[in-house]
Amino acid sequence: MAFRLLQNLRHLPAKVGRLSRSLRASQARPDDAWALGLLTPAEARLYLGMDARDREHACRVTRGLLAAHPQASPALRAAALLHDCGKSLRPYRVHERVLVGLVPGRLSRALPFGALYVRGAHPALGAELVRRIGGRARVAELVERHHTPGGDAEAALLHRFDDLE
Ligand SMILES: [Fe+2]
Ligand SMILES: [Fe+2]
Repeated sequence: MAFRLLQNLRHLPAKVGRLSRSLRASQARPDDAWALGLLTPAEARLYLGMDARDREHACRVTRGLLAAHPQASPALRAAALLHDCGKSLRPYRVHERVLVGLVPGRLSRALPFGALYVRGAHPALGAELVRRIGGRARVAELVERHHTPGGDAEAALLHRFDDLE
């Protein structure tokens, strides 16, 4: 029993190492050259501004979708690559500004309001980004609907393959 425990402990540093590597952006290997071929120049700049882990996830979603639906429209392919681009934003909200003034520094850094806000609003924020940089209107629409497709068949497809990830 004690021997077993010691053996398990011996493997702990390797386990922790693997976990921290999986969390670090530098370890992500997105297939950017392939992805850029599916985007307009403006959309490509937005894609490259995404975190490497989000780009890797986006490539996997797009490849999965294309494997099952090789006839997917160009807008759907681009939307699959950009669907989480809203996560690149970390806006400083008014309530955060107020909180930072009221709450002691150490406590305010631990409050997750900004991160929570971005997580919930990233489809709308992403769609706004696509529109602002001059991306295709249909791409923006699909990004906006990727968690709530409603009756949009293409958005529903994107939602399904995003969920499989
Ligand atoms: Fe998302
Ligand atoms: Fe996603």
